[in-house]
Order: sequence, then C-alpha cells, then structure tokens
Amino acid sequence: MKKNVLTGIKPTGDIHLGNYIGAIKPAIALSKNEHYQSAYFVADYHALTNVPGREEYKDHSCKVAATWLALGLDPTKTIFYRQSDVPEIFELTWILSCLASKGLMNRAHAYKALADSNLDRGRDRDFGVNMGLFTYPVLMAADILLLKTDIVPVGKDQIQHIEIARDLADTFNKTYGDTFSLPQYQVEENTAVLLGLDGRKMSKSYKNTIPLFEESKKRQKLINKIKTDSSPPGACKDPYTSIIFSLYQEFASANEVLIMRERYENGISWGEAKQELGKVMNDVLEEPRETYLELINAPKKLNEILLEGAEKARAISVPFLKEIREKIGLLS
Ligand code: ADP
Ligand code: TRP
Repeated sequence: MKKNVLTGIKPTGDIHLGNYIGAIKPAIALSKNEHYQSAYFVADYHALTNVPGREEYKDHSCKVAATWLALGLDPTKTIFYRQSDVPEIFELTWILSCLASKGLMNRAHAYKALADSNLDRGRDRDFGVNMGLFTYPVLMAADILLLKTDIVPVGKDQIQHIEIARDLADTFNKTYGDTFSLPQYQVEENTAVLLGLDGRKMSKSYKNTIPLFEESKKRQKLINKIKTDSSPPGACKDPYTSIIFSLYQEFASANEVLIMRERYENGISWGEAKQELGKVMNDVLEEPRETYLELINAPKKLNEILLEGAEKARAISVPFLKEIREKIGLLS
C-alpha cells in the first residue's frame, strides 16, 4: 500500500527560499518516490484570511502553481489542484468545526500571535481577527483528512496545525467510529526554519525573503544582505552555524559541499562565500526560472492542469464525504 503525502502552499506572495527548502523541495522528492501517492495544492481559500485584492489574489495563485511545475512536479503522477475547486473540503470543514473546541482554536499560533500582539499594544484582543483566521486550522485539517493523508511535509511552523488535524481526526473517530487515519508531519530537521534577511523566520508576511525565482543579479544583492558574524577573511569559520553554508548545501552537489566545508575551515571570506552561494543557486534555478516565466504567462494552461487535478482529488473526496455523512447520521 502506498502512503499518501499531501501539502499545500498559500498564494500570498512570491515563493521564497524558506517555502522551497521547508516544503516544496522535500515534497517534490517524495512525489518521485514510488512508495508514495502525492497530492499537492494551492491553498487559495487559506489566503483569503488576509483579504487580498482580486488581481493580486489571482496572480499569486498562478505563481504558486507555476512554481511547483517549474521545479519538476509531474501533474500526471501527483494530484495537483486548487483547494477552491474541491468543494467537499468546505463541507468537511463545517463538520470538523462542530467537533473543535473554541479553546483549541484560542491556542492555535496564528490567532494567538495576533491576539497577544493586540494585548501588548493595549488593543482589544480580537482587533483585526476574522473568523477565517480564527478557524484556519480546521480548514487545514479538512484539507489533510479528506484526502486520507498519512504524511504532511511542512516547515516547522506548521507542526501545531498537523497536531490539531490529528486531534480532530481522533475526536471524530471516537465520536462516530473509525474513519480517518492520523496524519504525521515530516519536517526537514536541518532547515526546519530558514531565517530571513532580518534574522526572523523568512516569511512573506515579514517581507524579509529571498524570492526563489528572483532575477540572478537581484538575487545576489539579497544574498549579500544576509547577516554574518564579524570574522575577517582568513579566519576559520564554522560552516554549521552559517546560514550561507546551510543554503549552499541545499543547492550544491555532495562533492561541492565537501570542498566548500574545507574552504570555510581555511577562512573563505563571507563575500566570497556569498558569491559561491549565488553561483550554485543560479546553476540549479536558471532553467526552472525560464519555465516559471513561461508558465505564469500561460494562465489558461495552468488552469487546465489544476482542473484536471481537482477531478482526481474529487474522485477521492466525493465518495469519502458520502461515507462521512453516513457516519454522522445524515440522510442521503
Ligand atoms: P509564509 O510564512 O512565507 O507565508 P507559508 O505559510 O505559505 O509561508 O508556508 C508554506 C510552506 O513553507 C509551509 O510548509 C511552511 O512551513 C514552509 N515555510 C515557510 N517559511 C519557511 C521558513 N522560513 N523555513 C522553512 N519552511 C518554511
Ligand atoms: N497552512 C499552510 C501554511 O500556511 C498551508 C496549508 C493549507 C497546508 N492547508 C494545508 C499545508 C494542508 C499542509 C497541509 O503554510
């Protein structure tokens, strides 16, 4: 039996190195492994919690879809779709909402972070909080559970959400009988949280990112801004505490990494280390970037691919939702 792998990316801005290393790269590797059936999607309704403008919303969804494909995802092997094209997810969201305690949602990190920051600023705790943001983890649980997911490759920041999905699956199973398998997260330990240019987590929300498909000169400028310690050229540097080295590892071959490790020990300057990082990134990303640019200019083609994927997702979600409805006692 193949294991089911699923992950989603919110279309809220340009895909950056954190998204790539934390979620997309490991997910694409799993999609090529014959022991797994993968399902990857554009989490467009999740992005609606920030109420983006219409054009921006469309544009970002296209960019996320194009990124996956440009990086080598094969839509004939992976179920590749847009969340909003699978309406069963939203019906399951309601069912799970009725099993989710409000206290559990109060502790979910996205809501809690905003509520805490409101309190710190002397505002009402719920200032600027919409119900979409508050119940965000329930929608995410529905994404995961409806496609019978076993493994969810994500960055470390998403672990709590997977735990909530497990909790809700368990509550449902205890209430209505065994229905859902319990999903597990898979986190890349060595790059669990990639830091951004300002030293905080790299995130679209903090505008501290290095976009994956940035033009190479602009990308080099951003790489040059990565903070380093003050050790001078010639001084031995510890590769394992260096974000530049950890990024290098993600793009270079095993042999290049070995050579670079020696160069760190022999005192490579930070400037040179940054140039070398820029070079390996260019080598790996140049071709995908061209494909990406072609794809974002072909929204119709992207749409067709996503709709075909949604059909495949619905071949699972429609009968499974019917089973779930029967379990809870709805007449069909
Ligand atoms: P962002 O914080 O930029 O809005 P998302 O929330 O859309 O990113 O995350 C999409 C995926 O990328 C998730 O699996 C998330 O865990 C992963 N991810 C995001 N930022 C990072 C990071 N800095 N390091 C590692 N993984 C990350
Ligand atoms: N919440 C995830 C994020 O912000 C995106 C997401 C939505 C997701 N649904 C998912 C990730 C299901 C994994 C599985 O990054």
